[in-house]
Amino acid sequence: MKTIASLRPKNKRVFLRLDLNVPLRNGVIQDDARIKAAFPTIQLLLEKGAKQIIMASHLGRPKGVDQTLSLAPVAKRLTKLLGKKVHLHTDVSTSCSQPLVLLENLRFFEGEKKGSVAFARQLANHADVYVSDAFGTAHRKDASVYALPKLLPSAGGLLLQKEKKYVHLRHKQPVVAIFGAAKIADKLPLLESLLKKVDKVLLGGAVVFTFLRALDGETGTSLVEEEMIPKAKQLLEKYPRKIVLPVDFAVTSHSKLKKFDSFSVSQRKEHVSFVDVLSFPKRKAGFDIGPKSVRLFSQILSSAQTIVWNGPLGMFEVKPFDAATRAVARSILDKTVIVCGGDTVSALRSFSFTHKSTGGGASLQLLSGKKLPGLEVLT
Ligand code: 3PG
Repeated sequence: MKTIASLRPKNKRVFLRLDLNVPLRNGVIQDDARIKAAFPTIQLLLEKGAKQIIMASHLGRPKGVDQTLSLAPVAKRLTKLLGKKVHLHTDVSTSCSQPLVLLENLRFFEGEKKGSVAFARQLANHADVYVSDAFGTAHRKDASVYALPKLLPSAGGLLLQKEKKYVHLRHKQPVVAIFGAAKIADKLPLLESLLKKVDKVLLGGAVVFTFLRALDGETGTSLVEEEMIPKAKQLLEKYPRKIVLPVDFAVTSHSKLKKFDSFSVSQRKEHVSFVDVLSFPKRKAGFDIGPKSVRLFSQILSSAQTIVWNGPLGMFEVKPFDAATRAVARSILDKTVIVCGGDTVSALRSFSFTHKSTGGGASLQLLSGKKLPGLEVLT
């Protein structure tokens, strides 16, 4: 991948594609990690004397112009964090002269999602060179990600290089993966790739119950993907030593879970019990792995050189079903841990790990062994 230095950005107009697709609630940014992750490249371009930086990103999935998905709050946050005015430019077909510019949400223009070369040409008029740091969007063939870099001298930014360095499965061995998912169907390519390439896969999340059923185990009223039971069986037969299943669970009944919103966390705990896998109650469902499983997982993880983590181990967003994920996280703070996937990164926000990928779909696609168009086009 070409680097920024090879573009000699001094006195040039640089188009900088970022992934500033941040979570917003009523126009308020909920997490600015993706904005902060763009900083090293912006700073580097400023240090190298770029004449103008034209930043661009998508936000959400608008169908045409939708002011609730304007990048205006992001321009404001960039201005505040950089200490320099970032001007929001809404009409991408006209040029602008301010030194720091953020183009309005590229998905307001239909050519972006269509990967239109004509739209990419319009964007190319703004700049002399192109830099991408949009790792989170690198699995898309949107115009600004795939068509545009073919029209200008292009390079990958510092974030892209960092993500490439960490998001793969060729790390120091033994590599142990923590894999949590609600459904196998969603993440089957990733699971298969993990099983081929790592030393052990510790399973968590509702996916576990489909595997237990494949072993003829009792799973009460837990979520089971009936149609995936044969696939789970096949994987268990192929990788009997690699797949590690939990040995106990935190369970409650679905009717109690529905009332959880009105309970305090300590009241909720009264409705949660821990059961061993061999004595799973018929009328209850599992929403987290139990303390014995946490000990088992932590023990296996203690001999790992690298840990790749995708997916919380329980229903993290509903306390106390975040307990096992947090306990396992606490037990591996001194390890090399690569966290991939939007939900996983936000679940583990309060833990500091070796690398937290800014990519959701993009990082999972890369771990699954697939190429990312937005990276390929830069090499
Ligand atoms: C993401 O949040 O995963 C990226 O910004 C890509 O967004 P998309 O899934 O809407 O293309």
